[in-house]
Amino acid sequence: MKTALMAATVLVSQLSFSIGSAQEPGKNSAIINADQGKLTISRHIYGHFAEHLGSCIYGGIWVGENSPIANVRGIRQDVVAALRRLQIPNLRWPGGCFADAYHWMDGIGPREKRPSIVNTNWGGVTENNHFGTHEFMDLCEQIGTEPYITGNVGSGTVREMEQWIEYLTHDGKSPMADLRRANGREKPWRVSFWGLGNETWGCGGNMRPEYYADVLRQFQSYLHNFGGNRLYKIACGASDSNFGWTDVLMRETTRMIHGLSLHYYTVDWANKGSATQFTEREWFKVLKKTLGMADLIGRHSTVMDKYDPGKRVGLIVDEWGTWYDVEPGTNPGFLYQQNTLRDALVAGINLNIFNNSCERVRMTNIAQTINVLQAVILTRDDKMVLTPTYHVFDMYKVHQDATLLPLDLKSADYSFEKDRIPAVSMSASRDKAGKIHVTLCNLDPRNANTLAIDLRGAKTARISGRILTADAINAHNTFEKPDAVKPADFSSAKLTASGFEVRLPPMSVVVLELD
Ligand code: AHR
Repeated sequence: MKTALMAATVLVSQLSFSIGSAQEPGKNSAIINADQGKLTISRHIYGHFAEHLGSCIYGGIWVGENSPIANVRGIRQDVVAALRRLQIPNLRWPGGCFADAYHWMDGIGPREKRPSIVNTNWGGVTENNHFGTHEFMDLCEQIGTEPYITGNVGSGTVREMEQWIEYLTHDGKSPMADLRRANGREKPWRVSFWGLGNETWGCGGNMRPEYYADVLRQFQSYLHNFGGNRLYKIACGASDSNFGWTDVLMRETTRMIHGLSLHYYTVDWANKGSATQFTEREWFKVLKKTLGMADLIGRHSTVMDKYDPGKRVGLIVDEWGTWYDVEPGTNPGFLYQQNTLRDALVAGINLNIFNNSCERVRMTNIAQTINVLQAVILTRDDKMVLTPTYHVFDMYKVHQDATLLPLDLKSADYSFEKDRIPAVSMSASRDKAGKIHVTLCNLDPRNANTLAIDLRGAKTARISGRILTADAINAHNTFEKPDAVKPADFSSAKLTASGFEVRLPPMSVVVLELD
């Protein structure tokens, strides 16, 4: 079976280079109105998520001060350097489902005295609490990123959450600020992003939306702004198409919150499938499912508009990404999966959707940063691999805090069997230095797609680019071959009288820079 699947994959990769473009001329075109940008693509759309799950924290980030792996105060330095390079704007922690089982006071003070607990959500392993509040805040400072902490609503108390914020951010004399000082941190930290529970409709308490709305109203009443710290309170939102949840939360809590979350994974729960052994059928299925993100954002936004027409409350997609079967032989509770060119396309499509929805979408967090689900980094002992998804984040980081440029894309279809989806995904922005960046994905693994782009309202003299592609749909990086999939210079774009033209090779992600 495995051999048959591999053969199919190889066949697809060979075909992709022999067939060439079958698009009718003129079907791929776009207009970019470069002088009509009004909205900012928040850098927080490029956020990350690290949970106490599998080897995301322990092994992936935290190795301890006595580890032979290069570390600063127990935090591994190869990972810090890689995440700094990505300019990740925020990091969500400690979960996920783990957040509603986590009691923060277990994770402060001398490490050898911290109690151990059982991680009941993820594999039933022992959690020794060596990575706690101080270690997480140290990690954020080392990376240069903002913390996004999810508080415990499911099994925690109002007092516990109130005290955590006081411990982190109180700048004067107070019981919790004094405890923080006793534990070695004089100055308060700044923590703005604060989640009030996670998946409270499921692992975070199995609540009904009406009940959670009341609990949220109570909890948020005790979360204070100390000193210069200003909280951005994020309510737990819906999963997928649960628009009723969004409606109740917006109806009952709009004036008390700053953000409402949405979780949407690219997954078929009945048949998750392998991360690396798949045919074009699964490639198509996964990309089609990913495109569903745009529809979900649109529909949840419509519900939010009813209660918040001024769009003050942000839609926070704080969990997204692919979810496949775990790698053979690994703990099913650890959610460890490989990452291929298909995942790069998933990331590129999602990030284009988020950019284009930035009027309502203010933050997103890929699940998860290291060794879990659609990871940007995989580690094994002292080795580290950057996944194709990492490279997409690297290519797209030019959009952070740039002005979204409105565009009108007319894409050809990518047809598979009796189904079809648009072949091209795209977004564009102008950065503070005036440079225009366009990110494009060609979803079709067999055909190149050429686009003629009418660039209105801007004069450009130069075009350059980078591309991420490979010769097989399941190409991926391993500890033995860490650079099998990596970006390269791209020269198939040229300026034209009205803008530019670009030829996207099959199954590729491209970033263009124009100035
Ligand atoms: O990311 C893995 C899990 O998926 C998270 O803990 C949970 O919030 C979601 O169900």
